[in-house]
Amino acid sequence: MFKAIYLTRDEEKTVSAEIAELDESNLPEHDVAIDVEYSTVNYKDGLAIMGKPGVVRSYPMIPGIDLAGTISSSDSSDYEVGDKIVLNGWEVGESHWGGLAQKSRLSSDWLVPLPEAFTTKQAMAIGTAGYTAMLCVLALEEHGVRPDNGPILVTGASGGVGSTAVAILGKLGFEVVASTGRPEESTYLNDLGASEIIDRNGLGEENPRPLQGTRWAGVVDAVGSHTLANAIAQTNANGCVAACGLAQGADLNTSVMPFILRGVTLAGINSVYEPFARRKLAWDRMATDLDPDKLEQMTQVVGLGESINVADQILQGKVRGRVVVDVNA
Ligand SMILES: NC(=O)c1ccc[n+]([C@@H]2O[C@H](COP(=O)([O-])OP(=O)(O)OC[C@H]3O[C@@H](n4cnc5c(N)ncnc54)[C@H](OP(=O)(O)O)[C@@H]3O)[C@@H](O)[C@H]2O)c1
Repeated sequence: MFKAIYLTRDEEKTVSAEIAELDESNLPEHDVAIDVEYSTVNYKDGLAIMGKPGVVRSYPMIPGIDLAGTISSSDSSDYEVGDKIVLNGWEVGESHWGGLAQKSRLSSDWLVPLPEAFTTKQAMAIGTAGYTAMLCVLALEEHGVRPDNGPILVTGASGGVGSTAVAILGKLGFEVVASTGRPEESTYLNDLGASEIIDRNGLGEENPRPLQGTRWAGVVDAVGSHTLANAIAQTNANGCVAACGLAQGADLNTSVMPFILRGVTLAGINSVYEPFARRKLAWDRMATDLDPDKLEQMTQVVGLGESINVADQILQGKVRGRVVVDVNA
């Protein structure tokens, strides 16, 4: 038997989340079994656990788009019993039973060997949020954005993607401007690597002019909606905006002007289906470009049962940085 967060949906389509004791024989058929050590709560996990539409494809479901742990049985030639692994995405916690559980069965194709630089706990402090922040930084670099080009704007800076992006970009020598609705987190953001903190209302014009005064060599946007529209409008010629999130909304009110008159690139980031080589690159880069002390500064640890409360908090924008879930606590 093992403990898991268990989501069910009734005939009125109301989703309930509880801690359940499940038999291992209930786990789906895949080629590796994992003793999960840590998982995490990302924004998407918040949506799943709180029963918001568009994430969970079938019920009952164990949520958790990330996990890290040890292989306990393997029919795969790539992994042996005792190997440490990390999993992000591949619709785990959406279509396949996920990481907020003590046990898991997954396809070995979805796994990445745990980088030597990290413990399983640190890997989950990074989680999908941190790995996505690294994918955003890779996109900026691949579009030619360099520290001497000018400041990088990070939106939703106090959240998981934002905090990790601030820390990585700061370590890489970029001038980081953190946009937040939480001025009380200014010291936290400065300590992570931001040189300037701006109020997110400054990017709050709901029908923004598509071309505004330029400020940003690059942008990491976890927020979407008019924040993203304003950020694009303020991006320098030939700059790049990496868009990964929708914490404010999924709409985007802009025009082609920033793209055809300034050569701005809008780089879409989808962490879920990235191929193995890209995941490995992102994890390897985090081993060198994310300071472990900063990672610890941005992370709190909770037990499995508390993850339901954290899910509610993250959707309200009240979680700072990253939350690791110790599934055995
Ligand atoms: N594309 C992908 O593959 C991918 C991967 C990971 C995450 N994501 C998405 O990225 C986003 C961030 O994820 P996360 O795990 O970092 O979530 P998070 O920890 O909740 O961070 C989101 C941050 O956005 C800001 N925010 C929240 N509500 C807002 C609003 N109404 N208006 C403006 N800003 C708001 C808050 O930052 P401040 O308080 O500092 O303003 C909040 O901390 C989510 O939409 C998530 O689904 C996408």
